[in-house]
Amino acid sequence: MGRGVAFDIRPLGAGDRSWAGELLAGHWGSVRIVTRGRVHDASRLPGLVAWRGDGRIGLLTCRLDAGRCEIVTLNALEPGGGVGTALVEGAAALARQAGCRRLWLVTTNDNVAAREFYLKRGFRVAAVHAGAIAASRRLKPEIPERGVGGVPITDEIEMVRFLDD
Ligand SMILES: CC(C)(COP(=O)(O)OP(=O)(O)OC[C@H]1O[C@@H](n2cnc3c(N)ncnc32)[C@H](O)[C@@H]1OP(=O)(O)O)[C@@H](O)C(=O)NCCC(=O)NCCS
Repeated sequence: MGRGVAFDIRPLGAGDRSWAGELLAGHWGSVRIVTRGRVHDASRLPGLVAWRGDGRIGLLTCRLDAGRCEIVTLNALEPGGGVGTALVEGAAALARQAGCRRLWLVTTNDNVAAREFYLKRGFRVAAVHAGAIAASRRLKPEIPERGVGGVPITDEIEMVRFLDD
């Protein structure tokens, strides 16, 4: 599907939970996501779902805490069609409504495409946590040794977008 094909972004509802759990387990090895040394059950978090007609084509899960909103997971099932951008903008709107001033996330060093995606959408690299994945792997042994393009997964890249603008 190309750009411009209509889709909707809706809040993640009770009826989406089992689909979300399967997607998370399929893409991230488990519904358990580790960021900055904390384990999150992403299948229980609030979030947004992208719909085209009757089909779900994207998922974002997030966590609001201390005036900040963390994007815990983001998946677009038809990459390049604008779904990822729409989900991030939806999360920014949710965060602003909740009074958050920052949207932030952690990605891993292997995922260069995701880093580029976020950098083009108002995020900056806030910190590089070199070697942090070793500790994450102790909490979640399912994290593979190698990720995108066969690159060893070793570091957390923390990214932030300020919502004041
Ligand atoms: C990263 C991701 C969420 C982007 O969603 P998307 O719907 O493809 O994004 P959009 O269509 O809104 O924008 C496409 C942009 O994403 C980037 N991109 C990342 N991976 C891409 C892919 N496989 N195909 C096309 N574009 C991709 C491109 O830089 C492109 O940027 P540009 O349009 O400014 O040139 C999606 O590719 C995805 O689900 N990837 C796998 C899971 C993942 O890595 N999630 C983020 C981890 S923190």
